[in-house]
Amino acid sequence: MHKLLTALGANVAIIGAQWGDEGKGKLVDAVSGNFDFVCRFSGGANAGHTIVVDGTQFVFHLLPSGLLHKNTVGVVGNGTVVDLPDLLKEITDLEKSGLANVSDRVKISLRAQILMEYHKKIDQELERRKGDQKIGTTGRGIGPAYADKVSRIGIRCEDLLDRDLLREKIENNCTFHNKLLGLNLDPEKEIEALEAVREQVKPMLCDTRKFLHDQIAAGKKVLFEGAQAHQLDIDHGTYPFVTSSPVSIGGVCTGLGVPPKNINGVIGIAKAYCTRVGAGPFPSELENETGELIRKNGHEFGATTGRPRRCGWFDAVVTRNSIETAGVDTVNLTKLDVLSGMPELKVVTKYTLDGQELFTVPTTRKANQKLELEFETFPGWEEDLSGVRKFEDLPENAKNYVLGLERLCGVPIRAIGVGPDRNDLIFR
Ligand code: GDP
Ligand code: IMO
Ligand code: MG
Repeated sequence: MHKLLTALGANVAIIGAQWGDEGKGKLVDAVSGNFDFVCRFSGGANAGHTIVVDGTQFVFHLLPSGLLHKNTVGVVGNGTVVDLPDLLKEITDLEKSGLANVSDRVKISLRAQILMEYHKKIDQELERRKGDQKIGTTGRGIGPAYADKVSRIGIRCEDLLDRDLLREKIENNCTFHNKLLGLNLDPEKEIEALEAVREQVKPMLCDTRKFLHDQIAAGKKVLFEGAQAHQLDIDHGTYPFVTSSPVSIGGVCTGLGVPPKNINGVIGIAKAYCTRVGAGPFPSELENETGELIRKNGHEFGATTGRPRRCGWFDAVVTRNSIETAGVDTVNLTKLDVLSGMPELKVVTKYTLDGQELFTVPTTRKANQKLELEFETFPGWEEDLSGVRKFEDLPENAKNYVLGLERLCGVPIRAIGVGPDRNDLIFR
């Protein structure tokens, strides 16, 4: 049993506690050897989860990040939106890199929504029309795919099994979206794209809810892999600058059909500072040289779109909010090594708006302009942390920073990242 997991129970969720890219993929990979199944429950290929093993980098988008372990089975749940050609390419790329039988180890829910080519076109068109109000989406079609789902016109993986129904739905949807948006979506191209992948996809399809239920009942262990993060959650995030699915703990239940009693532990992932890609409020953002320095030292460029990530100080208000909502038991603080060489570090401890304390990021531009922040300042450290493997061996100021964040967040920080590699972790 992995040290980090001993107090957490059989089935564990890993949830992003900030604005995404906290390093979820790295921890999922690091602990996956202890699980039989690793499941994605929400989102799509908007995610980019990076894993580094002995210097080789792997980026997972929709496939669960546990698949580098040869006995792990990956489940893509009903709550996801699946770009099927893209998913097959991810599988092929992994197999090309030397990993055997990946397609035999992937199960896709019959109820997962198929993300169509037209969703990407609609995503880009909607962003274009928003002008300077745009969300800054990944352009992967996520919002429009979820919009079709809740409008009850979405196409699900099970529809692949009925050619006539599939054709009818695609034709209707193209007509609908073409009329609404003045687009020129071609149903024949969409049908062709799915026909090309149908036979490869079919053996992976299954009733993942029943499958997981039976596996859990038989004592198998399941890891729930979060994508995006609490501040991008459709309900709890900085709406409308969010993604389009429930990405916090509730998404595990709806996106896989797993009841709350089968989530036995929750690990929150938080960077030692904050980043955000795309538009939207970011109270602790540093639009100055310090922000530039963090971006440079942390290689803060998107794993999916390559965009520079906005950088800022650690925000304990944001992290506490995520911890409370997801019921986080313990935090994995990542990228502590990136802060070496900073003379001092600030942490947001409190928000006030018009004299009232706020416990969440306000969503309107006006409120954000008036928002007052309180900070706690910590002295920095010079030493390179990348070789450190024991908490006791960290420089005194780095230890104090971690202990300060632990106090401000209210849950133990039991894992600390000091580099991108699978093994660059300190466990307390
Ligand atoms: P995810 O979306 O939450 O899985 O995170 P990403 O993979 O998008 O972004 C995290 C980036 O930081 C990746 O490039 C990781 O390889 C890297 N990373 C993760 N943990 C650490 C760490 O502790 N230190 C450093 N220097 N890099 C890390
Ligand atoms: P991982 O799993 C960081 C952001 C986009 C945009 C907003 C909506 O790697 O942490 P979308 O394409 O989902 O409609 O975009 O959400 N976003 C992410 N930011 N990490 C992610 O995933 C993200 N997935 C979406 O940049 O601001
Ligand atoms: Mg990412």
